[in-house]
Formats: sequence, C-alpha cells, structure tokens
Amino acid sequence: MTCFHCTCDATSGNARALSYQTAHGCFRTPMFMPVGTSATVKGVTTDQLHAIGSQVVLSNTYHLSLRPGADLVAEAGGIHAFMNYDGPMLTDSGGFQVFSLADTVKLDSEGLTFRSIYDGSYVRWTPEENMRIQELIGADIAMQLDQCTPYPAERSFVAAAVDLSAAWARRCLAAHARPDQTLFGIVQGGMELDLRLHSVDMLRRIEEESVAAGGRRFGGFGIGGYSVGESHDVMFETLGTVARALPEDRPRYLMGVGNPTTLVRAVREGVDMFDCVLPTRTARMGTAFSSTGRMNLRNAKYARDFTPLDPACCCSTCRNYTRAYLRHLVKQNEMLGAMLLSVHNLHFLIDLMARAREAVLAGAYEEFYRDWMASPAAKDY
Ligand code: GUN
Ligand code: ZN
Repeated sequence: MTCFHCTCDATSGNARALSYQTAHGCFRTPMFMPVGTSATVKGVTTDQLHAIGSQVVLSNTYHLSLRPGADLVAEAGGIHAFMNYDGPMLTDSGGFQVFSLADTVKLDSEGLTFRSIYDGSYVRWTPEENMRIQELIGADIAMQLDQCTPYPAERSFVAAAVDLSAAWARRCLAAHARPDQTLFGIVQGGMELDLRLHSVDMLRRIEEESVAAGGRRFGGFGIGGYSVGESHDVMFETLGTVARALPEDRPRYLMGVGNPTTLVRAVREGVDMFDCVLPTRTARMGTAFSSTGRMNLRNAKYARDFTPLDPACCCSTCRNYTRAYLRHLVKQNEMLGAMLLSVHNLHFLIDLMARAREAVLAGAYEEFYRDWMASPAAKDY
C-alpha cells in the first residue's frame, strides 16, 4: 500500500514540518485537529471545516461504537460518507474515555469491561475487538487501546498502565489489518521520565518484532497521559525528551492539548499534531481566542462594540459579525453564537499552526516562538 507516506519538508531547531499522505488526502504539520466526538464537530458543518483549513478531523470510538454503533457507520459507507467529510480522519480508541467517563471499569489481562454512559449496559473490549470496531468506523488513522493515568498518581500504578498499554499496543498492531487505515501507538508514563522512555522503548521493540515477523509498522505515535491536571511547566519538564525519543520519521501527536501557547511551545519541542475540545467547548460558553488574549463575550464592555471579533483574524465570523452582535447571541443563548465562535476558535488554532509551519519552512521557528511569547495573545494561557 502506498497510501501512507510521511516526508519531512523542513526542520527548524526541534520543530518539524511534515507531509503525511493518507487514503483521503495529504495533511501537513504542525497541525491542530478539530474534535468531532460523535461524528460531528459540534455546531460546525463540513463545508465550514474545509473553509477554515481543517485537515484531519477526529472522532471517538467510545461514543460512535455505543451510538449509533460501528455497524451502522460501516453500513453508511464508513465515517467519511456518514458525516460527509472527505478529508483525512482519525479515531481515538476510547481508552481515554473509558477511564474518564465510566465510573466502573474492570481491567483484566485480556481487556476491559465498562458500562455505557448511555444506558448502563456492560461493554467488553479486548484490543482485538477495539481494532475491529475502529476498522468498521473506517477513519484513516486508528489509535491503539491504551490506559491513560490521572495526575497525581502512584508510580506503581503508572508503571502498570505503561506495561498494560504496551501489551495492548502489541495486540492492536498484530490485529490491525485494514489496508487503507494506519495505526498509531501511544506513549504513557505520567510525569515520570524513565517510565515514559521505557514506554517509547517498548513501542519501538514491538514494532521491530512485528516487522521481523512480516507484520506492520506504526503509522505514528500518540503522546497520551498529559493535560490530565498537571501544570504546563510540569508537562514541559518531560514532553520534549519524550517526543524526541520517538522515531523521527513519523508524526508525534500530543493528545488532548489545545491551549494556543502550549501548542506553540510543544512544536518547539518536536510535537507535530494536536487535538482538543477546548476551542469548541469554550466557544459554547461564550469565550473566544484572539490576537490579544481570551475574550469573554458575556462581558458588558462589548455591548456597544461594533468592531469585528478579532480585527487580526480573517475567518468568516470576524469578517461578517461584530462583538456587540456576538455578545447579544451569547447572552440570549442563541445557537448561532456558539456556531460562530466555534468557527472562529477553530480557525484561530488551525491558522496558528499553519503559520508555525511557514516559520519552520523558513527556518525561523525560534523567531516565531519569541514573537508569540511576547504577544498579548500568549499572556493568559
Ligand atoms: N486523549 C487525551 N489523552 C489521551 C490518552 O492518554 N489516551 C487516549 N487514547 N486518548 C487521549
Ligand atoms: Zn475569526
């Protein structure tokens, strides 16, 4: 299969600009991926996603497998046809959701059992069953089943999760068969650098053994288990070393992180891909990212402000609507308010990463980083 192919277009310090070919087109990094948990980026149409420069859209195996069910998505022709998105897509395995949403998760050597958030029914996943479900959903990139640990956590608990995640990585890689889909392994290890590096080593070894047996490679690597309650500084103590310990010929994806400044800092450490519900979730609460920092549109100071949301932004929301109008929509809980702010916030992060890529291509990431950190946009993240 030639449909997965990663090339490095440029580096600038540790920052990278990659091009990655999938069966639904090429994506370029650094990149932010909008989250469409239940096969919808809440409040945003796929035409709008294309218009704001969205590349990969993420969806969740946990939610889709429970509602409407992976069989139904497959019957629709797969996730792309079902939700009318013809660009590259990624499904998270659900490992993270199982542990964060379900109050009772039972782990055993074979897999895990949890209760559905929708109707309380018991669901059983082995790594093999999780791969079968992600193949039915049919995104371009599947993520391995893993165990994400909270923070703080006992070292022995984190170590056990690293071992379990590695055992599941091996089984996911062996079970994964769909030729037009690739599988990413996931690094765990909490804030313990040695456990993180051990996790990376095991993924490398698992891949070597797979290839030696005529099996597959990982298409890239998720860096999981961050943004679970630790401070940014605690995350950055280990993130760069972990990212750069991963194979340099494939993408490194920091899972669940969406603060603009964190993205700019993480790219400088060698991270390529990001996803987070933050831009759409905060939009629904009336908050906008902007070139001068976060704005809460509920604030009375915007009541008679007939200027664009962010004069420095070229998205359709900023080109067409005023702060006063957006404030009115948000205050009245009009759905259009959430929709317009979601478009803007997604555009903000997608555009930030597009500019980061331009800086890498120009060999000037350090200047880009310094300019961002000195800008008012960086101050409150
Ligand atoms: N999303 C955010 N963090 C994680 C993680 O550690 N694992 C998975 N599977 N998804 C995530
Ligand atoms: Zn805008």
